[in-house]
Amino acid sequence: MVMNDTSVVTTRDVRAVAVAFRINGTDRPLDIDVRSTLLDVLREKLQLTGTKKGCDQGTCGACTVIIDGQRVLACLTLAASCAGQDVRTIEGLASTGSLTVLQEAFLECDAYQCGFCTPGQIMSATALLDEVRAGVPSHVTNDVSEPVSTKSLSAEEIRERMSGNLCRCGAYPNIVAAVQSVLSKEGGQ
Ligand code: FES
Ligand code: FES
Repeated sequence: MVMNDTSVVTTRDVRAVAVAFRINGTDRPLDIDVRSTLLDVLREKLQLTGTKKGCDQGTCGACTVIIDGQRVLACLTLAASCAGQDVRTIEGLASTGSLTVLQEAFLECDAYQCGFCTPGQIMSATALLDEVRAGVPSHVTNDVSEPVSTKSLSAEEIRERMSGNLCRCGAYPNIVAAVQSVLSKEGGQ
């Protein structure tokens, strides 16, 4: 097939799309390839490299971000589908210059070793805490007739809710302790 310059440009134009991102509270309009994942846009276009690429196929949780309050795997999310949505990454948590209570708890509880999975763990745990505060049950909630309470959240509940985030270093007990520490500081446990 003969391709002239015009056809090449047309092909590129079809694949490019302007997306009005809102990242960590700031509008970041971008022209992106429609095939780009959110993970690649965050890391390669916005230099927000706190969100990690582990498996790039939805199994490790290293790329977890929060979109409109929900935990999302950025490697499985088309960036173009995030237009107009509120995307939070690890860089947005301490944007005021102070660590969040959960981030402090990760430090206090030694909830990491190499740290590669840690941004994803913290984003996931951040959303977990909001889910529990909202009374959202999990697969291991015994009684779903009542909203889940921060006062009675078991270690099993925390493990289940964090089960999408793998840690090759095996820091799981300390990660559970960090979440329990936050609940404790809120007077829940
Ligand atoms: S990099 Fe997205 S789940 Fe592993
Ligand atoms: S701290 Fe190393 S993979 Fe989790």
